[in-house]
Amino acid sequence: FNSLMISFLLLLFSSVIAERHYDRLYNELSQSIANAKIKGEENIEISKELYYESEWKRDLAPFQSGITREMMGQLESLGNKYQIINHTVYRAKRCTFPARCQGVDKFLTRLAHRLEDTEFVLNDFDNPKLTKRARPLPLFSFSKKEDDYWDILYPAWSFHSGGPAISIYPSGIGNWSETKEELSKYSSSHPWSTRESRGFFIGSRTNHQRDSLVLLSRRFPSLVDASFTKNQAYRSPQDTLNAEPSTERPFEYNCNYKYLFNFRGIAASFRFKYLLACGSTVFHLDDGWIEFFYRKLIPYYHYIPLKERENNQKGLKTLLEYAIEHDEEMKKIGDNAHSWISSHLDESSIDLYWIGLLSSYSSLLKFPIERDVSLMKVSNEGSISSQFP
Ligand SMILES: *[C@@H]1O[C@H](CO)[C@@H](O)[C@H](O)[C@H]1NC(C)=O
Ligand SMILES: *[C@@H]1O[C@H](CO)[C@@H](O)[C@H](O)[C@H]1NC(C)=O
Repeated sequence: FNSLMISFLLLLFSSVIAERHYDRLYNELSQSIANAKIKGEENIEISKELYYESEWKRDLAPFQSGITREMMGQLESLGNKYQIINHTVYRAKRCTFPARCQGVDKFLTRLAHRLEDTEFVLNDFDNPKLTKRARPLPLFSFSKKEDDYWDILYPAWSFHSGGPAISIYPSGIGNWSETKEELSKYSSSHPWSTRESRGFFIGSRTNHQRDSLVLLSRRFPSLVDASFTKNQAYRSPQDTLNAEPSTERPFEYNCNYKYLFNFRGIAASFRFKYLLACGSTVFHLDDGWIEFFYRKLIPYYHYIPLKERENNQKGLKTLLEYAIEHDEEMKKIGDNAHSWISSHLDESSIDLYWIGLLSSYSSLLKFPIERDVSLMKVSNEGSISSQFP
């Protein structure tokens, strides 16, 4: 009897603690949002050229003593080698995901007249490859978990092509400027007051971070509409957490809801920028996985961070209840995200990122660039894609 009593008391005690934790979470949200507002409205003038300078500098900091030919040699098996010589772009013929290389080539070739001679190795897989447990080497990757990897971030191919190929976008999502423009139009014709006061998420079950929200949605459909679609490797109902897979939706569909959720996939998820462009409030699971632009966003001002330890049904429910009760605050965060995307994630920002990154990186190279004749010349006119029908 005694031990039963003790475990009962422990259970009671821990549920009281948990309850307190979520009350505190609820109360802290107002404070965090108010503090972030002050930070977000600070008017720091940074020219467009230098807006992202802090980001590539941070990634390049481990290489300040210089990048040697020997270091480059160690990277060759980890990605595709690129060279820019006399304003012409060259790269390894073989590319694991042709549409991804094409998405990078597009930017490099059109910027080549502004780029100095350089050489780098670009990883076109989702995962970064250089963990901090080994020595730093300068590999270009589109995403990383900041504390764990040395990789240098570059703007992903998905700003042009090779994005996630889901059945409604069979060749990838394509040109970001155009998609962003369409989302903007859709958003202005679907203003905040007409959007559903519910959470929304749709995507494949690439990892289990997404499960709690989907389970919550099954219990409280009036709070959130979240479900899994079939992924490319769909095998069984297990892949959709034992429910019928739901229909894939175009990105505009997100903009019908006020609260959107972003979780990483294998690496950072491309979904984030499309959600921010909607002008709804994005709840983003902040677990350290980033793309080049994430660190410029102010948490609680441009999006609401969801902590890993709160990514459970109780935590998600608390956040959603808070959101529903603070409509004005949420609308403001959605507006902030939308205007940040328009001014800081437009195509010229991506151009400037490549230019700034490559120029700082090139200044660290300690060897003369000599043409590698095994590389092919990349032309500006998409001739690459015709080799891979
Ligand atoms: C770049 O072009 C100049 C002038 O045409 C030439 O002298 C030089 O060798 C070229 N550089 C390389 C690395 O090929
Ligand atoms: C994307 O589309 C816009 C507008 O049609 C165009 O100006 C831009 O060059 C395209 N971007 C790329 C990378 O092709």
